[in-house]
Amino acid sequence: MASSSLTDQTSPRSPGRLAEHVAIIMDGNGRWATDRGWPRLVGHRKGAERVKQIVMAAPDLGIRWLTVYAFSTENWKRSTEEVLGLMNIFARYIEREADRMAAEGVRMRFIGDREPLNPKLRNLMNSIEERTANLTRLNFTVAINYGGRDEMRRAMQGIAADVAAGILAPADITDALISQRLDTSALPDPDLVIRTSGETRISNFLLWQTAYAEYEFIKTLWPDFGPDELAKVVSRFGNRDRRFGGVATG
Ligand code: IPE
Ligand code: IPE
Ligand code: MG
Repeated sequence: MASSSLTDQTSPRSPGRLAEHVAIIMDGNGRWATDRGWPRLVGHRKGAERVKQIVMAAPDLGIRWLTVYAFSTENWKRSTEEVLGLMNIFARYIEREADRMAAEGVRMRFIGDREPLNPKLRNLMNSIEERTANLTRLNFTVAINYGGRDEMRRAMQGIAADVAAGILAPADITDALISQRLDTSALPDPDLVIRTSGETRISNFLLWQTAYAEYEFIKTLWPDFGPDELAKVVSRFGNRDRRFGGVATG
């Protein structure tokens, strides 16, 4: 079920309708720690604990696809200490959560450019993807070194190479083909995007895929965002009227 056909998604308002794919911009770890006089990495560690809880709570809220933004292509601008600290947190998360995810039926994937990541982390990412590849209860995707523009640039380079080689004609470049060439080719488009910490921007997250997503900007800092608040946000989604360019359904 790729993003190819918007007409597939034009269901009218139906209270209680579920957000099957929820994407989260997990923001506010640094401020959470700084507010307490602690190093930013303490906030990131607390943030990772929250991710575990949200992953375990998601299936019971009807969420089948959960995608979280963990590290953007712009986050390399931070101090070496913070960047290395985050990379260690990602590696430890995979190592420590692997058994639990496998036991709970969680399929883990990653999006973003892996090339600049350290080989140990890349190996862990590849092995957890392989290990959980047959699981279906929750599709959990983590965006690491991900940027919407970077993803589209990489996809366009691949398409351009195929056109140059005569494998594709320009007229073959449809919305569906572009979706297939993105890192998210296996994922449906998000229904709902949540950003914590009060910032009202998307910071280069899933630019193509969120054309018709609903947004929720929440003031809570990510380390304070728990399953109860997720449940409230998801229930609000059911009352939204998604028109996809059509007319209101009353
Ligand atoms: C989000 O929290 C996590 C990452 C971007 C890695 P931040 O680290 O951006 O926290 P704030 O926005 O500085 O509070
Ligand atoms: C977005 O948060 C990226 C992630 C949550 C990983 P940032 O904190 O990096 O975004 P800006 O800098 O406030 O736009
Ligand atoms: Mg931030």
